[in-house]
Amino acid sequence: MFNYAFLGTLRRCIDKKIAVLTSGGDAPGMNACLRSIVLAANHYSISVLGFEHGYNGLINNEFIELSYAAINQGIHLGGTLLKSARCEKFHLPSYVELAANHLNALDIDALIVIGGDGSFRGLQVLSQIWNKPVIGVPGTIDNDLFGTDYTIGFHTAVETVVGAIDKIRDTADALERIFLVDVMGQHSGFIALQASIACGAEFAMYPESKLSEHQEIEEIIAHIEAARKLHEKNSFIMVLTENHPIGNAQQVADMLTKQIGIECRPCILGHIQRGGTPCAQDRVLATKLGACAVDSLVSGKNKMMVGEVKNEIVLTSLTDTYEKKKQLDIALFAIQHQLFDLVNELNSD
Ligand code: F6P
Repeated sequence: MFNYAFLGTLRRCIDKKIAVLTSGGDAPGMNACLRSIVLAANHYSISVLGFEHGYNGLINNEFIELSYAAINQGIHLGGTLLKSARCEKFHLPSYVELAANHLNALDIDALIVIGGDGSFRGLQVLSQIWNKPVIGVPGTIDNDLFGTDYTIGFHTAVETVVGAIDKIRDTADALERIFLVDVMGQHSGFIALQASIACGAEFAMYPESKLSEHQEIEEIIAHIEAARKLHEKNSFIMVLTENHPIGNAQQVADMLTKQIGIECRPCILGHIQRGGTPCAQDRVLATKLGACAVDSLVSGKNKMMVGEVKNEIVLTSLTDTYEKKKQLDIALFAIQHQLFDLVNELNSD
């Protein structure tokens, strides 16, 4: 369990300088996290430099001084004031070395990276040649990092998806249509599971369902047919995770139309899921984790990610965050499947 030194005795770290950057897909709450990092660092008299455009900022030596005044008004803003990027160059050792040289030239004492699995892989590589402490903060809408129940941005993304599906439901009901809604998640079903339960979707498909493509199509058809027999004139909404082996929303819609002759409408929600004002839960999580990231550095931690598990702050080694597979909430998964099965049972009564 994490010891909140930050809330305890004040330790001055005058003349210390830390750097922070946001990397990969942006996530609502990243700005709240930056604000918290700056506030916590101020508490210890540590100054903060913000590198812009993810790891590109380290490579190109693009940075700004992150003062409290610069960041204080950002808690409610989506995106990231530091900008973000996916940085292909960081896969090449020569660029990682260049980044380390820039950090050394600026006398940076530690680095915090807010991002997802790709960003932490990059941080781990950097830490092999840059000999100063590094800490990761989980910031991705996908919620696919081991070592934290939730990542910054996930709750807002789920709210966005639920709001969008509620709207789709209106038109689906009006026209008695089947809709296939494609949601983000990269290769995991966290968004799909939570959002499909919250909006009462009739079916959901995500990688963790572990059905073969053939079984999955059969199951979808069985559900549509059962639901349609039960309530002939109702809409039917299926949530599908992007990159699903079965195909994208358009392909699955076409497949279903071909096999059961019913018209299906695909809807790819796309990048609206990453934008918008962070919800309160994400702002609170971001504030907690930002402060704890600074605290971890002050108490000598290195190559760890700060996360929250069962309401406790925990530290997990960077490598574990992306090498270990985070499981979906088993209880929620079971409830969803029981509800899906109910439709079939009711129909056979
Ligand atoms: O990792 C966050 C995420 O939004 C994923 O859900 C999605 O697969 C990916 O980023 C999209 O990335 P990009 O905006 O680079 O296309």
